[in-house]
Amino acid sequence: MPRVRFLPEGITVEVPLGNTLLQAAARAGIVLEGACGGEGVCGRCRVQVQEGKVTSPPNPRLSLQERQEGWVLACQAVPEGEVAVFVPESSVFTAHRVLKAEESLTLQTKEPLWWEEKLTLPPPTLEDNTDDWGRLSWALQQRGIAPLWPSRHLLAELPRTLRAADWQVKVELAFLDKALYELQGIKPAGRGEGTWGVAVDLGTTTVAAELVDLATGQVVATAGTYNRQAAFGDDVISRIVYATETPRGREELQQAILETVNGLIDELCREAGISFKDIRAVVGAGNTTMVHLLLNLDPTYIRLEPYVPAANAPPPVKAAKLGLKAHPEAWVYLVPGVASYVGGDVVAGVKVTGVGEEEELTLFLDIGTNGEMVLGNREWLMACACSAGPAFEGSGITCGMRAVAGAIEEVEVSPGGEEVFYRTVDGKKPLGICGSGLISLLSSLLRAGVIDRSGRFVEGLDTPRLREGEEGKEFVLVWGESTGHGRDIYVTQGDLQNLLRAKAAIFAGLRTLLSLVGLEAASLERVYIAGGFGRFIDVEDAIGIGMLPDLPRERYAYVGNTSLKGARLCLLSRRAWQETAELARRITYVELSVGNLFMEEFMAALFLPHTNADLFPSVKGA
Ligand code: FES
Repeated sequence: MPRVRFLPEGITVEVPLGNTLLQAAARAGIVLEGACGGEGVCGRCRVQVQEGKVTSPPNPRLSLQERQEGWVLACQAVPEGEVAVFVPESSVFTAHRVLKAEESLTLQTKEPLWWEEKLTLPPPTLEDNTDDWGRLSWALQQRGIAPLWPSRHLLAELPRTLRAADWQVKVELAFLDKALYELQGIKPAGRGEGTWGVAVDLGTTTVAAELVDLATGQVVATAGTYNRQAAFGDDVISRIVYATETPRGREELQQAILETVNGLIDELCREAGISFKDIRAVVGAGNTTMVHLLLNLDPTYIRLEPYVPAANAPPPVKAAKLGLKAHPEAWVYLVPGVASYVGGDVVAGVKVTGVGEEEELTLFLDIGTNGEMVLGNREWLMACACSAGPAFEGSGITCGMRAVAGAIEEVEVSPGGEEVFYRTVDGKKPLGICGSGLISLLSSLLRAGVIDRSGRFVEGLDTPRLREGEEGKEFVLVWGESTGHGRDIYVTQGDLQNLLRAKAAIFAGLRTLLSLVGLEAASLERVYIAGGFGRFIDVEDAIGIGMLPDLPRERYAYVGNTSLKGARLCLLSRRAWQETAELARRITYVELSVGNLFMEEFMAALFLPHTNADLFPSVKGA
């Protein structure tokens, strides 16, 4: 078996023959950048072979000199025998800012998915010789808890437990469905310990979790980190490809997300001073692919027409069976989704924001690689997902990057493009530009007259920032002397077209939903923007480029990590859990690839802000 030593850490791993350095790194616990999912296209997983031999085909992402210096793409390089590989910091995955559910919610805390009931049972007599299990079930049935299913080990010890407690007991119950409860434990009534649950937002890039006191509803600890699956691709499609086309790919991806969540659970337990065995229920909310990969369900047909998942609402699974760190009897519940590209994270968001309960027409919007949206009110709800591409995640853009330290997140270009003012994440020297920076840039270039309404650079501008590059015109935002890596940061004409397509997809998705119900954007009374990326979008800029409708600005609200909040709400309320499941069934999914409507709207939106400027009256110059 080949052996790979990763430097500078000095971690050595053995890998099966034919495995790539990317797979070896994952085994070593080193998560490399892998935006294209190991296709050899993004060039982000570069490492330097310092000792030994690897087989690696030439790749245009590496210059001849780099290849002579031993640089290879980890996803394309297969080690032979013993090798030592240097991993530069720039190739190590750095997490987005992880979004935790920072706002407190007034939640119904009285009916968590796992709870204890105190019972005083009448002891048996010669006249009342009902069996012990029948006696216990009857008492719970009186409280509406039926039918009841005993956990395997309980029946064996039931007679002694009831008598030792003098018929005054506390029973531990888990809710499975309105038609099924599970009895998980019995103890003397006086005994009391803390009862804990965990809510998890299973994000494609980052994962966030909360430890919740099930008795009080209090969040006692929060934690977040990057998703270890990032080494296998930035977006859900590259992960599905990896899962379905790599031997044991599904298992690797499941392992990666389990390690991610278990790492967070360890952190939560340390902070709260409890054992993971004290966690009695876990609720996760994630997109449909993330849920499939967590449960090791076959995701193949999520990406193939007609885009059908294995299950939108998989039943709960025992933590021990899944390999999740919690009490072995704890159930892991996953918030049901609507379709392949509108998952439980969106349903959780719709539930927690009350979109399906209000009279007003509301839009719930979560923007990432996909723009997922739900439109409606208490009468009806419709959803769609439009593929915005990876531009807003910083991929597919020459100097694009995720929203990590050093990413330009806000830009102002002076008229004519003479000067550029910018702000970076954490105030670090600029390294690239992230999604919110790109929206701000597009809007600002238009205002400054550097690009026209079709997104093309204006001819004849007298600024050295606009230059001829290898692939046509490009505009320099920051000169190399001021950047963190010494190279210029710029946008190309191709980057601008990618951005234009991304913003057009989102607006076209919304217009399609609206036109299906015969409404105009002006009827939207509220727009909720959720998710990690949404937080950093400047609404004014997003309207300026025609990504969001031109509504009074006060109708927009950023609602944070509603996936995590929704998961917590379900954890703390059996009623909310059932209502959320019902909500997923109520939402009508609209497949945008059916018919011409979306395509027509998309073409019309490939303009700044739009072909029909009347839709954006408040945008200067529209
Ligand atoms: S080039 Fe290796 S992951 Fe993209």
